[in-house]
Amino acid sequence: RGDLDALMGKMKSAAAPFRETLQKLHRDHAPINSGAVASYIPELAGASPDWFAISVVTADGLRFDVGDSDRLFSIQSISKPFVFGLALEDHGREHVLSKVGVEPTGEAFNSIVLDEATNRPLNPMVNTGAIATADLIKGKDQAERFKRLMEMFRRYIGREAYVENATFLSERATGHRNRAIAHLMMNFGMIEDRVDETLELYFQQCSVLVDCHDLAVMGATLANGGVNPITGERALKAEYVKDLLSIMLSCGIYDFAGEWAYRIGLPAKSGVGGGIVAVIPGVAGIGVFSPPLDEKGNSVRGVRVCKELSERFGLHVF
Ligand code: DON
Repeated sequence: RGDLDALMGKMKSAAAPFRETLQKLHRDHAPINSGAVASYIPELAGASPDWFAISVVTADGLRFDVGDSDRLFSIQSISKPFVFGLALEDHGREHVLSKVGVEPTGEAFNSIVLDEATNRPLNPMVNTGAIATADLIKGKDQAERFKRLMEMFRRYIGREAYVENATFLSERATGHRNRAIAHLMMNFGMIEDRVDETLELYFQQCSVLVDCHDLAVMGATLANGGVNPITGERALKAEYVKDLLSIMLSCGIYDFAGEWAYRIGLPAKSGVGGGIVAVIPGVAGIGVFSPPLDEKGNSVRGVRVCKELSERFGLHVF
């Protein structure tokens, strides 16, 4: 805690040197050329491997952006913890946990694994659990469920949220595995009998456009107890912030989650669009954007930048 207060102090009193540190980090990591841009969804394949941004927003609203921090991309799986938060607000913890667990899988994000005893998906960060979570979003019809989802993203990013239609259509056209997962869960009675609608909602949440700065603001909102530090608007009830952060720490980086928690030690979530959001509780949100992914689907530069920031500033939560 003392270290974190010191870091907060350093960011404030020495904003210029901290910005320089981020610029150097950006320069040092830009030449990395390993990893591959996701291509399993055709719309993602058009991303440039050179796009690269790092953003940090503090819990009291200071902002640092370097590189392509205003280039828009699809949020993809980074949406998952935030939608989980809305489901918690809609139903409360016990009901949500009766539909989706909080156990890391050690498996890839799209693995078709359910808990044998309960038929529950293991956690909300893998596709099974994310689709079960999307099913829980309330609304009298599909339009209202969608609007509530966009309203939630608006509170986190502090401006209107939009779905990129081409990405949505591309996800929907190629999402056979997700469709299979959803039907399997409906067969087990784990999601309601409106599979197509829920799948559309899931594809839409993945196709929300954000930039790297938005990711840092979303992280900063969680760092700040659920209140967006730029707009002052509450995005998530305070009581659920720790639900999101603990699940991000244990499950946010898929089958690299254990390694991530051990080495980097920050609640975080990655997406196949190349984004990573990480949270320094009480202090700041970090966003990194760089499309080339490693074999587990995490941004190569994103993981390295977070590791270096964590080591350099002693950010590991333990
Ligand atoms: O379900 C899918 O195929 C994707 N839209 C999930 C996105 C994602 O970011 C998963 N992983 N990193």
